[in-house]
Amino acid sequence: MNDQREFWNERFGREGYFYGTTPNRYLASHIDALPPHQTVLFLGEGEGRNAVYALERGHTVTALDAAEIGLAKTAMLAQSKGLELSLIHTDLEFWNPTQHYDAIMCSFLHLIEPLRSEVFAKSLAHLNTGGVFVGEFFSIHQLPKNTGGPKDLDLLYTADQLSSILAVLPCEILELCEIETQLHEGTGHNGEASVVRLKVQKR
Ligand SMILES: C[S@@+](CC[C@H](N)C(=O)[O-])C[C@H]1O[C@@H](n2cnc3c(N)ncnc32)[C@H](O)[C@@H]1O
Repeated sequence: MNDQREFWNERFGREGYFYGTTPNRYLASHIDALPPHQTVLFLGEGEGRNAVYALERGHTVTALDAAEIGLAKTAMLAQSKGLELSLIHTDLEFWNPTQHYDAIMCSFLHLIEPLRSEVFAKSLAHLNTGGVFVGEFFSIHQLPKNTGGPKDLDLLYTADQLSSILAVLPCEILELCEIETQLHEGTGHNGEASVVRLKVQKR
C-alpha cells in the first residue's frame, strides 16, 4: 500500500494537475450517456478530473484513492465549482464497500494480480443490477512507448486477460477492445498510446 500511496502523493504534491482537469475522453463519453442522478464511484481517481465532470452533470459521486493528496485536490477542484463529493481514502487491497452504485469507473488504474481480479469481483458485487463498469487502461503494447503509464508488464492489461477475469463474474461485456489512440492529458499522458477499453453491465 505505502509504495503506491507515497509514489502518487509525491506526484500529486507538485503544482498543477498531473493529468489535467479535463476528463478522460472514453470515461467522459460514458458519463455523458448515464441516465440522470446516478450514484457513481471512481476507483483510483487521483486528482479528480473524471469525478468532478460527473458531479457537474448532476450525479452523486464518490472518489476512492490511496493517495490522500490526490483526494484533497479532488475536493478542491469540486469546491472551486461549488460542488461536493464523497471521498474514500483507502488502498483497494483493504476496500470494504458499504453501498451499491449505478456505475463504477476508472482510468489508468494499474493493479497487479490477484488484486486486479479481486477489485473486479468486488466492483461487480457492488453494482446495482443493470449498472455499468467502465474503464480505460494501458495495454501491454504501451510498454515501449514513452507517452505515459507503468514500466512494469505485470501492471499492464490485455483484452484476453480481462475477458478471463470477467468470464466468472455476473456481467455482460458491452465493449472490450485494444486500440491505439492519442492521449493529451496534462503532462502525464501525451502522444500515441495503446489502451484497453472496457464496458460491462451487471446482470
Ligand atoms: C495513473 S493514476 C490515474 C489517476 C486518475 N484515474 C486519472 O486518470 O486522472 C493511478 C491512480 O490510482 C491510484 N491507485 C493505484 N493503486 C491503487 C490502489 N491499490 N488502491 C487505491 N488507489 C490506487 C493512485 O493513487 C493514482 O491516483
